[in-house]
Amino acid sequence: MATPLVGVAGVSAYASLVEPYSYWISETDIFIRDLPERFENFRITQLTDIHHSRILGIEEVRNVVALAQQTKPDMFVLTGDYTTNYRRFIEPCAEALAPLNAPEGVWAVLGNHDHYTDPELTTRALERQHIAVLNNAHTTLQRGPDSVQLSGIDDWSWNAVDWPRAFADLNPKTPTILLSHQPTVLDLEQTQNVSLILSGHTHGGQVRFPFVGAPALYAANEIKYDRGLFRRGATQLYVSSGTGMIGLPVRLGARPEIAVLRLKREI
Ligand SMILES: [Fe+2]
Repeated sequence: MATPLVGVAGVSAYASLVEPYSYWISETDIFIRDLPERFENFRITQLTDIHHSRILGIEEVRNVVALAQQTKPDMFVLTGDYTTNYRRFIEPCAEALAPLNAPEGVWAVLGNHDHYTDPELTTRALERQHIAVLNNAHTTLQRGPDSVQLSGIDDWSWNAVDWPRAFADLNPKTPTILLSHQPTVLDLEQTQNVSLILSGHTHGGQVRFPFVGAPALYAANEIKYDRGLFRRGATQLYVSSGTGMIGLPVRLGARPEIAVLRLKREI
């Protein structure tokens, strides 16, 4: 009965050698109410959960950055978990992200693993590479008279969110995009006036079996928004599977994703 064993070995080799590096550049149109005219077709490339670590080397991070740069977006957003838990990976990861370049900038938030590692060191390392970290802060993207607000929160699971600061003086009539490592904030009343939340954290389940979904989904309620587009009221949420791995260096049924989001006016 050698066949099943060969089958298992084949699947595990695929999960550890092929799928983790088989990048998927997803393209999703997102329709937003009251999107100003000059932001029609505005393209955002999102990288998330890079997790530079012993199991994910710096060459792979550089590879992800080069692929992302080829998408030529109007703006890059990075939604956290640059490393997994060791400080020595922070600086090289930030340096590898430095080539990212877009007309409307590169904006970042921190994830739960950045808190395990060192949130201050991570913030400083990113800022040294001209990546703006929205730690409970916001900015306005301006195109002539048109604007879109971009806000970012620190990691929700670490109780690091300061909603009043993140949303201070935002214009309720202008669409707001929120960067939040954790997708679960879609359920909170604080996000009900946000047009679009961009999140990661789930790794798309990282290991997902056909028909039953990802075992991790049953273990943690917090990743019920596992990947793709969700909606609650007028608020939409896009969850990217991200590119890195934690724990075992495997991915199965959850290809690493570089997400390209194109904003469209809802008519
Ligand atoms: Fe995370």
